[in-house]
Amino acid sequence: MPLRTRTTYLVSHLKTLRTIRFRFCLLCCSIFFLSLVWIELVTRQNSVNEILIQEALENVGRDLRYSNVYRKTKHLPKNLKYLLLWTRRDFAPFSFLEEGQRTFLKNNCSVINCYVTADKRLFGTDYTKFDAIAFNGRTMKSYKLPRKRSPHQKYIYFNMESAENFPVCNTKFDGFFNWTATYKLDSDLPTPYVLIRDKNRAIVGPKRRMQWKDNMENVYVDYRQTIENKTKMAAWFVSHCRTKSGRHIFVDKLQKALSTYGHNVDVFGNCGKLRCPRGKKSTSELCNLLLQKEYFFYLALENSFAEDYVTEKLLTAMSYSVIPVVFGGADYSRFIPPESYIDGRQMNSYQLAALMDRLARSPRQYSRYFRWKKYYTYHNPSMNENMCNICEALNDRTMMEKTTIYNNFRSWWNPYYKERCR
Ligand SMILES: *[C@@H]1O[C@H](CO)[C@@H](O)[C@H](O)[C@H]1NC(C)=O
Ligand SMILES: *[C@@H]1O[C@H](CO)[C@@H](O)[C@H](O)[C@H]1NC(C)=O
Ligand SMILES: *[C@@H]1O[C@H](CO)[C@@H](O)[C@H](O)[C@H]1NC(C)=O
Repeated sequence: MPLRTRTTYLVSHLKTLRTIRFRFCLLCCSIFFLSLVWIELVTRQNSVNEILIQEALENVGRDLRYSNVYRKTKHLPKNLKYLLLWTRRDFAPFSFLEEGQRTFLKNNCSVINCYVTADKRLFGTDYTKFDAIAFNGRTMKSYKLPRKRSPHQKYIYFNMESAENFPVCNTKFDGFFNWTATYKLDSDLPTPYVLIRDKNRAIVGPKRRMQWKDNMENVYVDYRQTIENKTKMAAWFVSHCRTKSGRHIFVDKLQKALSTYGHNVDVFGNCGKLRCPRGKKSTSELCNLLLQKEYFFYLALENSFAEDYVTEKLLTAMSYSVIPVVFGGADYSRFIPPESYIDGRQMNSYQLAALMDRLARSPRQYSRYFRWKKYYTYHNPSMNENMCNICEALNDRTMMEKTTIYNNFRSWWNPYYKERCR
């Protein structure tokens, strides 16, 4: 190798060495610097959290954006009650329970210091730190339950579905729950589909022992025109055609009996020929207005028979000027005033058709079924009142301190569970 080339070779070799060393140094420095930044960020984050929490606690009443800032922070405020949703949010009432304090803020609840989360890891792996754990009876699984449990926690059973369709079968659930929150009126936190207010807007029902007003005033003059304008006998709005209660058989029989008087049951929805009108207002609103204008009777038929299982179908009838024909497992005197409805299970289809025909032909008689409207109004409590009650209960010292256990839970929920669970 000539000298020249040798020197160039050496020089270039040295250069490579230098760049390697240089790169190594650069890498070390960067790592060191990045670690500094990281440490700084981590420590800063904690103080940010604390400031955020303080700010959120002060502002949460005014601004919804603060309602879920406690997520995954190390320093959690002490006066909050934590409620863990053990099962997913896909069904009511969990679908109404939003993350954080949002639900209670939005509904203007009397207390809002409850924090709802579906995040099981909010306190790491320690589930005992939650004040309460909520289970939706519709989706809970006996093999997927919390392993450790604190004696101070409330395990709450939620269910809005009929006990007939969703019985509890596993023995694990006997003595498992501390509270119940279902449509059953003897639940610790009743969550009915309808809510009754009196004229002073005070909540008066539904209740197991309702005290309905007697001697209600005549309203014939007020409703005469509405009633005289009606031309059609009965409407049924339905999306599930065949159900446990056999309501389709009930309708077939009623249809036959009514036809002897020249009347008909109009079936709307998936299982019938008629569709609700469409327009600017929501379809259900238009449907209900049609119902009020044209029909004498509304068939409020439940899909299954279970105690207190009365769904929003009844709410529709009670909110518009139409008489409901009810068909369900409830004692309806807990839900609706006497002489405001016809109970489809109290008579056979011929008696029923005869009564319907008689009322439709006498506006004066028919109007008696609207007398209650002077004294009561019906509301849907699912999204607000029922949700507020949960936070109120978590703040209720006596309720929290009382030890409550349902030893025979399966039969409380459905007395006929043995047949249903086979
Ligand atoms: C919220 O509740 C308070 C008192 O309970 C009441 O004064 C206020 O009008 C309510 N606000 C709304 C928007 O309902
Ligand atoms: C009854 O029908 C008449 C004529 O179509 C209408 O003018 C009136 O507003 C209706 N009254 C009620 C209360 O629906
Ligand atoms: C809840 O029920 C469990 C199991 O039956 C019981 O051990 C616990 O003491 C109860 N806790 C409360 C707070 O009622």
